[in-house]
Amino acid sequence: MHIFVLTGAGISAESGLGTFRDAGTGLWARFDPMKLATPEAFQQRPAEVQAFYNWRRQNLLAALPNPAHLALARFGDALHRRGGRLTLVTQNIDDLHQRAGSSDVLHMHGELLKARCLACHAIATCREDLSQHSRCAACGRVGALRPHVVWFGETPLFLDLVAEWLPTADLFVAIGTSGAVYPAAGFVATARRHGVPTCEINLEPADNASLFDQALYGPASDCVPAWCEKILATLDASRPDQRNLS
Ligand code: OAD
Repeated sequence: MHIFVLTGAGISAESGLGTFRDAGTGLWARFDPMKLATPEAFQQRPAEVQAFYNWRRQNLLAALPNPAHLALARFGDALHRRGGRLTLVTQNIDDLHQRAGSSDVLHMHGELLKARCLACHAIATCREDLSQHSRCAACGRVGALRPHVVWFGETPLFLDLVAEWLPTADLFVAIGTSGAVYPAAGFVATARRHGVPTCEINLEPADNASLFDQALYGPASDCVPAWCEKILATLDASRPDQRNLS
């Protein structure tokens, strides 16, 4: 069984990292994305943009994976032991899936703990604050490092792999995402076009909720572990020889 999971900010909400669109508390309710998350903003006000991502990077370094990240990591291993496969695509720029133990996570909106050099295109781990005085370790250029994240107006990463793998999945699951930002919000429609069953796990119905075959509403830290257990139990029930592999 191949399960394709897409995660969004909701899976990291209980780790203390803010979502974007939750009323009042969402990052984009407090900050204007056009002033902080576009290439034009970085060109015009680099210090302000770097400060925003420096703040988010410090918050991330202080955060820990929650039970939803941990359950998905265990689920990936359990599926693998049963001859199945988990594709994990995230819109999140945090590394909480990896710290929970998930491998091969596709970060379609980039990674906050990486910096990219605009001069030589080198990508390197970055746990420190960035500024216009930061120097690229690869080419030595000063002032060309930016967070390795995808901004509005830029093309998300790994869309070729998504296009190849999503139609081959046996199930598509979206976790903690509002379905407001494309192309990720369109994955459910792609899945449906290819006859892939779809499931939403979210605190409340997403903007595209009507496109999902099934839904599970509640905090990710409750719903994700429960959903993982249910899928594994269903798999084991259909293959009695594979029991006790968890
Ligand atoms: P949003 O903030 O748009 O949506 C978060 C979703 O998580 C909402 O549907 C919430 O109901 C849900 N949620 C909140 N707390 C939850 C919890 N404890 N458990 C489960 N669900 C919870 O975040 P995304 O959909 O990830 O892009 O946003 C998509 C993209 O928009 C982001 O990657 C970012 C943003 O602009 C860029 O910055 C390019």
